[in-house]
Amino acid sequence: MVTVNHDYLNLRGSYLFSEIAKRVAAYSAANPDKKIIRLGIGDVTQPLPTSVIEALHKAVDEQASAATFRGYAPDLGYDFLRNAIAEKDYQARGCDIRPDEIFVSDGAKSDSGNIQEIFGRDNRIAVCDPVYPVYVDTNIMGGRAGSFDEARGLWDGVIYMPCTAENGFAPELPAEVPDLIYLCFPNNPTGAAITKSALQEWVDYANRNGCVIIYDAAYEAYIAEDEVPHSIYECEGARTCAIELHSFSKNAGFTGLRLGYTVIPSDLIRDGVEIRSLWARRHGTKYNGAPYIVQRAGEAVYSEQGQKEVRQLVDYYMTNAASILAGLKAAGYSVSGGVNAPYIWLKTPDGMGSWEFFDHLLTKANVVGTPGVGFGPHGEGYFRLTAFGDHAATAEAMERIRRL
Ligand SMILES: Cc1ncc(COP(=O)(O)O)c(C=O)c1O
Repeated sequence: MVTVNHDYLNLRGSYLFSEIAKRVAAYSAANPDKKIIRLGIGDVTQPLPTSVIEALHKAVDEQASAATFRGYAPDLGYDFLRNAIAEKDYQARGCDIRPDEIFVSDGAKSDSGNIQEIFGRDNRIAVCDPVYPVYVDTNIMGGRAGSFDEARGLWDGVIYMPCTAENGFAPELPAEVPDLIYLCFPNNPTGAAITKSALQEWVDYANRNGCVIIYDAAYEAYIAEDEVPHSIYECEGARTCAIELHSFSKNAGFTGLRLGYTVIPSDLIRDGVEIRSLWARRHGTKYNGAPYIVQRAGEAVYSEQGQKEVRQLVDYYMTNAASILAGLKAAGYSVSGGVNAPYIWLKTPDGMGSWEFFDHLLTKANVVGTPGVGFGPHGEGYFRLTAFGDHAATAEAMERIRRL
C-alpha cells in the first residue's frame, strides 16, 4: 500500500498570502472603483539591468550555433560565474572564499529549503520569530519540528529566538544550544541589520558549541551602513561554522529569471564529514545546473556596467524605503528597518492586531501590506511594508496613509 510522507501532513496551510489575497479580492469585488496599491509582496517591479538583457541576448544567440551551443551546465555552476562571485563578492571584501566553495543554483528559496536535508533528522534548529517561513516549513518536511503547539502558535521541536523592539529585532544568543541556526540579515520581514561585532558573537557561539549557522544574505545589496557586514565570512572563524546563501533576485531583479548561490567552506566539518562534499553530492544528484543563459546574465551583474546598474536599481527601491520611513514617522508611527533593507516594519497604532490593521489600511487607504503575525507570534502588533513598488504608487500610498 502506498503511504505518503507524513511529515508533509504536519505542514500548516500557507495561510498568510492566501488570506491576504482573499481579503483583497473580497474588498475589490465590493468596491470595484477603488484603486488598490500593493506594498505587500517581496517581488521586484523594475526591469532587468541593460547589461543583463544584453548578456541574455548574446547567450541565446550562442545556443543557435553548433559551435557555441551549450547543453547541460556543470552541476555546481560554470567556472566563469563561480570565479566572478569569488572575486567580487568575497575576495574584494577580504573574505577567504574560493570558487570551489561556491555552488550555483536557481535561487535562495530552493537552497534555504534544501540545505536541511544534508543534516541529520535529530538536529535541533533555531529560527528567529518572526521569520521567513521557508526555514521552518522545510524542517517540518524534514521531520525536525516536533508537534505544533496551537496555544503558543509554535513548533515544540524548534528553538525560537524572539526579535522584538527591546532587542532591536536582533535575536539574543539562545540559552538552549541548537545544532542549526538560521539567521537572515538584512532581515525579512523586520528589515533589521546586524553589525559586524554582533555577528562575530554568533560566529564565536557557533564555533564554541559546534553549531552550524545558515546565513541568508539575500538582501545584502541593500546594506548602506559601514558597520554592517556584507558577508558572514567577514567575521573571524566563520569558515568553520557558517553556510551563506545568496540570491540575484533582489539586487538584480532575477525573481523571474532565477539564480542564486550557496557558499560552504571546506573547513566546515561536522560529524567527521566535510559539509561541502555532501552539498556537492546532493547538487550533483538532484540538480542539473542553472541554465547557461541565466548564468551568463549573472556574470553580467559583476561587470563594471552591471554593478552600476544594480546600484541604480537598489537606489531606486531605497528611495521608496526612505519615503515610506519618513512618511510613517511624520504620521506618528513607530517604525524600523528600511535603512539597510527594502522592508519597513511598523508598530500597529492604538494596540491594533496585525490583521485588524491590515483591514484598516485596506478599507480606509486602499493600501495592502503584510500582517507581521503571519511571520510568527512575535510579529503580532506589527506590519510589513515593502519598498519594491514604483515611485508614484509608493508616494501615493504614503499620502493616503498620512490622510488616515
Ligand atoms: C529571506 C529570503 N531568502 C530567500 C528568498 C528567496 O530568494 P530567491 O528569489 O533567490 O529564491 C527571499 C524572498 O523573498 C527571502 O526573503
